[in-house]
Amino acid sequence: MKEKIITIDGPAASGKEKISKYISRKWKFKHLDSGILYRRLALIFFNENIDVNNLSKIKKKIREIKYLSYRKNQKLRTQEISKLSSKIAVHIFIRNFVNKLQYDFVKKNKNNQGFVIDGRDIGSVVFKNADLKLYIDVKAEIRAKRRYKQLIDSGEKSIYPKILKEIKLRDNKDKLRKNSPLVIPKDAFIINNNSSFSDTIKQIKPLLNNL
Ligand code: DC
Repeated sequence: MKEKIITIDGPAASGKEKISKYISRKWKFKHLDSGILYRRLALIFFNENIDVNNLSKIKKKIREIKYLSYRKNQKLRTQEISKLSSKIAVHIFIRNFVNKLQYDFVKKNKNNQGFVIDGRDIGSVVFKNADLKLYIDVKAEIRAKRRYKQLIDSGEKSIYPKILKEIKLRDNKDKLRKNSPLVIPKDAFIINNNSSFSDTIKQIKPLLNNL
């Protein structure tokens, strides 16, 4: 049987990761977080002091990279890396590089139920023929409130208006770029994640059970 592909798109801090993890656990699908790949690249440029405005330098570096780890860590989640990953994601050569890694991931991990892949352009560009496409919708203010609480709970300093401003800036960058902007894929189901997680799951469950 052919593996199923579920795509999950949505803006920053919309809960894509939590939803993907839930689907991955419950339906035994392999999870791929495409944002991590953009963040990994941003971290490499950051650590090696490569000016991301210098396109020939970042192109040269990309040609040297043979492998990117999918492992997550705290460094990848800093505000600095969030901003940088959104900035480099506008370039078509960066997007092609990350998309190839995603296709390789799917090819290498055959023989399982399927994949749940989250990002900004997964249903609209990367896996256009997916079996199910979800778009996660949450108001910017709610996303900022949740991110703020997360940071405070983990003992970090945080200022709500600053978080909201950064989320809105990242939304603009992700939605207004020329290459693969964040859009609602035309055949996607819109999932409202403004209230509780159990309410969100109620919307998702029947869609997956009907696959
Ligand atoms: O999902 P995330 O916040 O970890 O993603 C970080 C950045 O990477 C995001 O602001 C834009 C970029 N990204 C993208 O352009 N396309 C994707 N499919 C995933 C992420």
